[in-house]
Amino acid sequence: MQKITLYTILGGFLIIAFSGCQSNAPKKIPSLKNLFKNDFKVGAAINERQLYGKEPGAVKLVQKQFNTISPENVLKWAPINPKPDSLNFGPADRYVKFGVKNHMWIIGHNLVWHKQVPQWIFQNKDGSLVDRQTLIKRMQQHIYREAGRYKGKIDGWDVVNEAINDKGKLRQSKWLKIIGKKYIPMAFKAAAKAAPKAELYYNDYDLYKPAKRKRVVQLVRNLQKKGIRIDGIGMQGHWSLKKPDLKQVQKSINAFSKLGVKVMISELDIKILNPGYFANKDSTTNNPDPYKNGLPDSVQTQLTNRYVSIFKLLYKNRNKISRVTFWGVNNGDSWLNYRPKKHTAYPLLFNRKNQPTPAFWGVVHAIKKMKRQNK
Ligand code: XIL
Repeated sequence: MQKITLYTILGGFLIIAFSGCQSNAPKKIPSLKNLFKNDFKVGAAINERQLYGKEPGAVKLVQKQFNTISPENVLKWAPINPKPDSLNFGPADRYVKFGVKNHMWIIGHNLVWHKQVPQWIFQNKDGSLVDRQTLIKRMQQHIYREAGRYKGKIDGWDVVNEAINDKGKLRQSKWLKIIGKKYIPMAFKAAAKAAPKAELYYNDYDLYKPAKRKRVVQLVRNLQKKGIRIDGIGMQGHWSLKKPDLKQVQKSINAFSKLGVKVMISELDIKILNPGYFANKDSTTNNPDPYKNGLPDSVQTQLTNRYVSIFKLLYKNRNKISRVTFWGVNNGDSWLNYRPKKHTAYPLLFNRKNQPTPAFWGVVHAIKKMKRQNK
């Protein structure tokens, strides 16, 4: 009787142990930072909710997967200094503290931009535009204060963001109108003074476009000629299933790295629905949120293939690329869920439960294979 019980228990154990080896056992999830550890840093933009402990799952994922972070919004000028006499460094301090604690490569984003900048800085008390000297002073003061505060902690700054328009001309921002084109070298000079050890970057979208590529090359050469430090170019990477043509991306990577600066993909995400879809009344009235309940297999396959092609390209360029950062941690917190209209977006490699998506596995398998073949 006793023997039978013993066998039953043993048998039970064996069944449990054996079933643990079956396919329903959890697959070990590799980390992107480890996969690319000899190639480039891999990161994600983190948001205020995560910094304040409201998404512990996403925070754990960041700690497991990434070795660099970017601040989605908390370091921008408007939240930090909304009114002349109000300064709010709380969330930004938390961001930097999180990065230091987790030994991350910490990105500062950004110092000078035409968006998310408080309007008061361009205005006199009566609402008229300030003169050139006043704006130069305000810009320098902001850079000294913010980049200076995190001196030795923030490793790389997006000093100037999106200064070039789609035609490859300097954007007609208030910066340009009031200060003139010198605001760019002035910003870099001030950043170099405030944070002498941090890397300094120019960051922009659509840098695969020939006109923008050409203008960025000119901008960097101009700084270099003047002896003003610039260490890298961030290609944002807000891309879609079809655009850009990766050959154009390759051309920009080549052109930028020839300048002797680092090249980064600084804000990677992939749109499935293009702005055209939302602009079309028929499509949006009939189906405002087509992938609300998930992606059909055929679309998922397109997304996986797109991500695989992108990462194959980035991996091939590992000698030129220093960092690849996703704009968000998981699909649920991506800004694209609200752009151009509210919908369910799938732009990143982790789903709303912080689990890897088929695109994640596609990338992992493709890169492991390339590594095995020494490609
Ligand atoms: C976006 C944020 O993700 C949004 O939450 C915010 O409402 C607008 O800005 N280029 C940039 C980023 O350089 O700062 C932008 O981030 C996305 C486009």
